[in-house]
Amino acid sequence: MNIAVIGAGQMGAGIAQVAAQSGFSVMVQDIGNEYLAKGEASIEKSLARLHEKGKLSEMPAEILGRLTFTTDLTSLAHADLVVEAIVENEAAKAELFGKLGEIVKPAGILASNTSSIPITSLASASGRPEQFIGMHFMNPVPIMQLVEVIRGHKTSDETAQTVLGVAQRMGKTPLMCNDFPGFVSNRLLMPMLNEAIQCVMEGVADKEAIDGIMKLGMNHPMGPLTLADFIGLDTCLSIMEVLHKGLGDDKYRPSPLLRKMVQAGLLGRKSGEGFYRY
Ligand code: CAA
Ligand code: NAD
Repeated sequence: MNIAVIGAGQMGAGIAQVAAQSGFSVMVQDIGNEYLAKGEASIEKSLARLHEKGKLSEMPAEILGRLTFTTDLTSLAHADLVVEAIVENEAAKAELFGKLGEIVKPAGILASNTSSIPITSLASASGRPEQFIGMHFMNPVPIMQLVEVIRGHKTSDETAQTVLGVAQRMGKTPLMCNDFPGFVSNRLLMPMLNEAIQCVMEGVADKEAIDGIMKLGMNHPMGPLTLADFIGLDTCLSIMEVLHKGLGDDKYRPSPLLRKMVQAGLLGRKSGEGFYRY
């Protein structure tokens, strides 16, 4: 099976890596060679780390040999499955899926790694809603076990079965849910992170204490502010906006501090600074 991944950022690079590790041929597409180079470098680093620990059954070079990189979207015409992992913006994703619906062979399945955007709406934009699905990997993709699989209103059983099989072949555990804003993962996770940011804004405690309370008190592997930085504050804001608009309840209002930090370009780990400096 030929898999294509669109977007070579932290998620796209991770998805491409895990697919190649699982024996699939993978083509990675992004809008500029600099993004592809960054994605390739992060895959090399992650494979080296796994190799050092004896967690790979092949040499990293063999896995890297199954990956190709391109800026040309038309190169994806022969993909059996396309997994989109570009910026969390509905208009950008809808425009891309409109093009993919024209470019990718008719039998190809289109999947989005969106964190929150309605799958059914993206499916309509693609013009092939039966062969469209949400395939939501978790960050860091090489380590996290879950793939949240989201069925759109018209997703066919055959598409769902194929994608469940691919996720399993990637060594992941897929769990299925229906298409509602934020699905299950971010409907539950993101309001908690947003509330932690609100605690910073209101001076409830300093950031180290907020993170420490959740790490030591709830056994979370990362505190909520560290996790928000890890995910990307721009992505967190986009998800809160989808929840707020899609569910229409003010309990999902994005924290003004989150909005201000994104306006200031403080996006977390990927920009070098968020709640912490990297
Ligand atoms: N590639 C390869 N290996 C990696 C890696 C990567 N990208 N990232 C971490 N690792 C490995 C480390 O090498 C280490 O391996 P060993 O156990 O063999 O030593 C292991 O993972 C643990 O890493 P660290 O010791 O460096 O650090 P840690 O113990 O703090 O674990 C973590 C790191 C796994 C990221 C952990 O902190 C964690 O689980 N954090 C929470 C992650 C989380 O909640 N993810 C979901 C985010 S929400 C989301 O993804 C959905 C959305 O739509 C926003
Ligand atoms: P990122 O900012 O690290 O990477 C996005 C990549 O997409 C960049 O390389 C960018 O150049 C590229 N891109 C932007 N527009 C493009 C286009 N039109 N065509 C091709 N490439 C394009 O973002 P990320 O954190 O990897 O998130 C990507 C997607 O995955 C988002 O939908 C996000 O919500 C979702 N997601 C993120 C996380 C997380 O923890 N960060 C977890 C699960 C899902």
